Amino acid sequence: MSSISFIGLGGMTRAIGARAVEGGNAVEVIGRDAAKAKDLATALGDRVTAGTFGTVPAGDIVILAVPYASAVPVVAQYGDALAGKVIIDISNTFNADATGLVTPDGTSGAQEIAKAVPASAHVVKAFNTVFGHVLAQGHPLDVLFAGDDARAKASVSAFIESLGLRPLDAGGLETARWLEGTGLLMMGLARHGVGGFNFTLGVNLPG
Ligand SMILES: NC(=O)c1ccc[n+]([C@@H]2O[C@H](COP(=O)([O-])OP(=O)(O)OC[C@H]3O[C@@H](n4cnc5c(N)ncnc54)[C@H](OP(=O)(O)O)[C@@H]3O)[C@@H](O)[C@H]2O)c1
Repeated sequence: MSSISFIGLGGMTRAIGARAVEGGNAVEVIGRDAAKAKDLATALGDRVTAGTFGTVPAGDIVILAVPYASAVPVVAQYGDALAGKVIIDISNTFNADATGLVTPDGTSGAQEIAKAVPASAHVVKAFNTVFGHVLAQGHPLDVLFAGDDARAKASVSAFIESLGLRPLDAGGLETARWLEGTGLLMMGLARHGVGGFNFTLGVNLPG
């Protein structure tokens, strides 16, 4: 069992949060609107708590579930309150018309977030290659993740497994750029080859 805090109260927090509760994890939800956080906590289950935005989250793992444009400002606002935490960055970093990434070559959203968190915190990229509404359907999906700290990755991997999902380690945090590019690829597939958003990307192990 893991203890998880979500910052952000949108669709991804609802989808991952519901599976986290089912998987027996301790869950806290945090948003800039305290009443909305309380409502979401109640909707997710009796034992889910609502935290206070900007103060030390209860969870050892903090899922940053805000749009990428808000991610660095939010962690900067938290400052030392995130010391020692494992921070999961789930953001997609494509631009408004999903034709490219907003981050410059040679970096990624996750790496920019890692520069903004306390030195004792560890950023792991995960979940950006799964659609929230597909996660909410309860299928056993693949969740690709990347990060530099082995212990942080092990705890994220165990958390992903607790959701009934298969964790797949894609490498160091420099790989986050390619996971974010995969988010862009999924938008292209949705608009072209697949023709909709009800799909998932996974890894096949033939033989
Ligand atoms: N939707 C998907 O299928 C999907 C899939 C993979 C990855 N992602 C990524 O997951 C993240 C969350 O997506 P979502 O679909 O859950 O988004 P969403 O439904 O739009 O919710 C975003 C949440 O972020 C909060 N927020 C935004 N700016 C904030 C700030 N400055 N301070 C505090 N809270 C702030 C919003 O707060 P308010 O409630 O107060 O407005 C809202 O609760 C995004 O980075 C997205 O790229 C989404």
